[in-house]
Amino acid sequence: MAKIERIEAREVLDSRGNPTVMAEVIVAGNIRAGAMVPSGASTGKYEAHELRDGDPKRYSGKGVTQAVEHVITEIQAALIDKDTANQDKLDRTLISLDGTPTKERLGANAILAVSLAAARAEALAQGLPLYLYLQQLFPKREPTLPVPQMNLINGGKHATNNLAIQEFHVVPVGAANFKEALRMGVEIHAALKKILIEAGLAVGLGDEGGYDGGAAPALDESEEAFAYMTRAIEEAGYVPGVDAFLGIDAAASEFLVEEGRYHIDGSVLTAKDLGWRYKTWNERHPLISIEDPFGDDAWDEWRGFTSYNAKGVQIVGDDLYATNPQRIQQGITHKAANAVLIKPNQVGTLTETLKAILLAQEAGHRVIISHRSGETADTFIADLAVAVGAGQIKTGAPARSDRTAKYNRLLKIEESIEGAYAKPFRELLSQNQPARV
Ligand code: PGA
Ligand code: ZN
Repeated sequence: MAKIERIEAREVLDSRGNPTVMAEVIVAGNIRAGAMVPSGASTGKYEAHELRDGDPKRYSGKGVTQAVEHVITEIQAALIDKDTANQDKLDRTLISLDGTPTKERLGANAILAVSLAAARAEALAQGLPLYLYLQQLFPKREPTLPVPQMNLINGGKHATNNLAIQEFHVVPVGAANFKEALRMGVEIHAALKKILIEAGLAVGLGDEGGYDGGAAPALDESEEAFAYMTRAIEEAGYVPGVDAFLGIDAAASEFLVEEGRYHIDGSVLTAKDLGWRYKTWNERHPLISIEDPFGDDAWDEWRGFTSYNAKGVQIVGDDLYATNPQRIQQGITHKAANAVLIKPNQVGTLTETLKAILLAQEAGHRVIISHRSGETADTFIADLAVAVGAGQIKTGAPARSDRTAKYNRLLKIEESIEGAYAKPFRELLSQNQPARV
């Protein structure tokens, strides 16, 4: 039993240099545990509220001093003397203290920082690595090292090039374990750099460490990105579609021009044609995961696409679900997707995050634990991914410390556990993968 004695908070910076909240929970005299909250750029409209000051004289309005103040005053007062062993109760206290459906009063950034720091404090108090403590809160699955979806080319809101698709991932499903998967990803990332330089493209990095290719001549079209990535897999000495596959996060809400119409690769497509475009890519390239293929209100577009394509390709709801258990339930009922992206800051507490994961897993959906485009050195999601047996993690390119910190944490965890690495993908691939042309 560890009672909360004090909570501290401060404004720190994320990987884009924007302010974010760090909270520290102090228990049992000298145990101090902190957490830092990430921040999105292509934020879904159903996400919990990130409280920013809006004062144009500080950080262009992006300061978080009010959120920090809420931690130090109201949240601290409500949680003082509370037991960190009862995460569910702590989170329920935070939710009712805020009192709004989107956590807009205290700020989901203030609330999440405390929720995660409390879990860390309890893990420390129990002398457990975080993933083992989190597993106590989620004893449903075997801890498993996740397959990384590594972002190799950035587009959309995360880059300055002309690509509508926000993220192009490599997914090293064929590796024997996480360590080998990471090495494969690094080697493919390095091979891609050479290829892009030879093609006269820029190799500056976008927000998540993937190549931006933004300076003229720019990377313009999705097909180019797929071709470069497949070549990079081969030049690194691997077999596309055997050792390594591709994934995308379309983040389609960002290129939705009006209901049912999407601006991509130089033309405006109907939802149906966009669906065909994805299908063509799926046939031409070893593409096994498509995130947010349509807008976050387009339930019928999602349902139609998933019912037609669900075998052999993972269709992932991110902005669609916003880690919100009610929306995930709606998606399960609608058969809108077959996988869920989980971002703790979309919902605002650890308990609600675990609830979202459980709901998805019990419905047979795959789960991917995810970073945000604005990250910090905090590695909580690495432990979370292992603890809940998510099977997959999306945490950027193997570049930039905010991304590699999570990978490095997974390397350490892998020394202690053996897991069924890549099991969810192997199951997926044993279903009907389309013939390659
Ligand atoms: P975001 O992007 O963090 O900018 O929302 C990540 C994603 O869409 O998955
Ligand atoms: Zn996304």
